[in-house]
Amino acid sequence: MVKWLCAVCNIYVYDEEKGDPLTGISPNTVVSEFPDSWRCPVCGATKDRLVRISEEEYWQKARAYTDFTEKKEQVRSILIGADNPLTQPELRQEYGVPLGLRGIGQGLTYLNNLKALSKYRLKKRLITQHEEPVIETTFLGKKISVPVLGAPMSGLSYVSNITEEDFAFNILEGCKVAGTIGFTGNTSRDYEVIHPAIIALKKVNGDGVNIFKPQSQDALLDLIRQSEKEKAIAVGIDIDGAGSVNFALAGKPVFRKTIDELKELKSSTRLPFIVKGIMCEEDALAAIDAGADVIGISNHGGRVLDSGPGVADVLSNIVKAVRETKKGKEIVITADGGVRTGFDVVKMLALGADFVLVGRPLAREAVSSGVEGVKRILEYIKTDVRIAMIMTSCNSLEEIDGTILVKGR
Ligand SMILES: Cc1cc2nc3c(=O)[nH]c(=O)nc-3n(C[C@H](O)[C@H](O)[C@H](O)COP(=O)(O)O)c2cc1C
Repeated sequence: MVKWLCAVCNIYVYDEEKGDPLTGISPNTVVSEFPDSWRCPVCGATKDRLVRISEEEYWQKARAYTDFTEKKEQVRSILIGADNPLTQPELRQEYGVPLGLRGIGQGLTYLNNLKALSKYRLKKRLITQHEEPVIETTFLGKKISVPVLGAPMSGLSYVSNITEEDFAFNILEGCKVAGTIGFTGNTSRDYEVIHPAIIALKKVNGDGVNIFKPQSQDALLDLIRQSEKEKAIAVGIDIDGAGSVNFALAGKPVFRKTIDELKELKSSTRLPFIVKGIMCEEDALAAIDAGADVIGISNHGGRVLDSGPGVADVLSNIVKAVRETKKGKEIVITADGGVRTGFDVVKMLALGADFVLVGRPLAREAVSSGVEGVKRILEYIKTDVRIAMIMTSCNSLEEIDGTILVKGR
């Protein structure tokens, strides 16, 4: 009988003769008879992502799969979505290794994002006039259904069978069909002529944002020009990409940037300019001096510097410093790091963010279930934003502020 391999995680194997008790499949079941609800127990992919493999390849892979299921039970659960090491602290260092989703070093910054958010609790308040909360808003002039955006991510082609272009497209299109906006990351992979992020942007008619790594000014000016040509909503750089492990491994130089260098990039384009990767007041003020329209408070999901604070730990002080500047009120502030639910989104908004970016939950879906998966997660987050607003007596996004937070320990 036929043997199969999951083409997404490259780990899960299925032997039709044996069936698979783990996912409720009886012996002698062919893959086409799997229920539509079936998901790969390692990465969550659907049954159409299983590919036929030879007997020989099956036995090689089966050994790896057994090792994975027996020795890395906790890591497996992380890949299917239970990625909160607060409840499973032993996962810290192994976090997300098979899908390349881990944090750098011991994963302490990654963990601090979750810890920082969990220090805040939402104040339940219900004896007020009931209204349907208004969740829709606009990001840089574009209407969106919820103040949640798809974080820029790249590099998934190193750890799964997806191409950088398809990954970027799945994020952009998934966000678009969910009524919001996705960002693209900057892969360290070589590409033929056109950058995969630009190809993906073109495919969604410019309904996305390109974020590029802080490489040479000439390369950045060229990439920004291409984004503008494809009518991106905005363009920017992740200044903390200066610590990118993938770029270092690929031998591609990335740098810190001066205010003057950022000014040069900003003034090269008519598009709104984003500086992402800010974790201190000094950088926020410098980015404003350089003319940034949007500042992204982010530690790159803990992927570039270990032992850093969580984003929710530093957010309100940075927001305060920004708002006190002359242009402060016009600056758009995004925050990301450890956001997993609509309740987390509301906490970030209460701490002062205007918009919240979500990373890993969308990456996992973009790889395993494509556009539909990305849309599904965003809808799930939106549902929880609505519930959180009803339960904290917030009828509009403007009403979400620090008064709905209770600080725990
Ligand atoms: C696999 C992966 C790749 C990433 N690649 C990029 C990138 O190319 N550019 C960028 O600005 N941020 C990148 N990030 C950081 C995200 O944009 C975002 O800051 C982070 O994932 C948010 O944390 P969360 O994953 O806990 O939601 C990446 C994150 C992950 C997990």
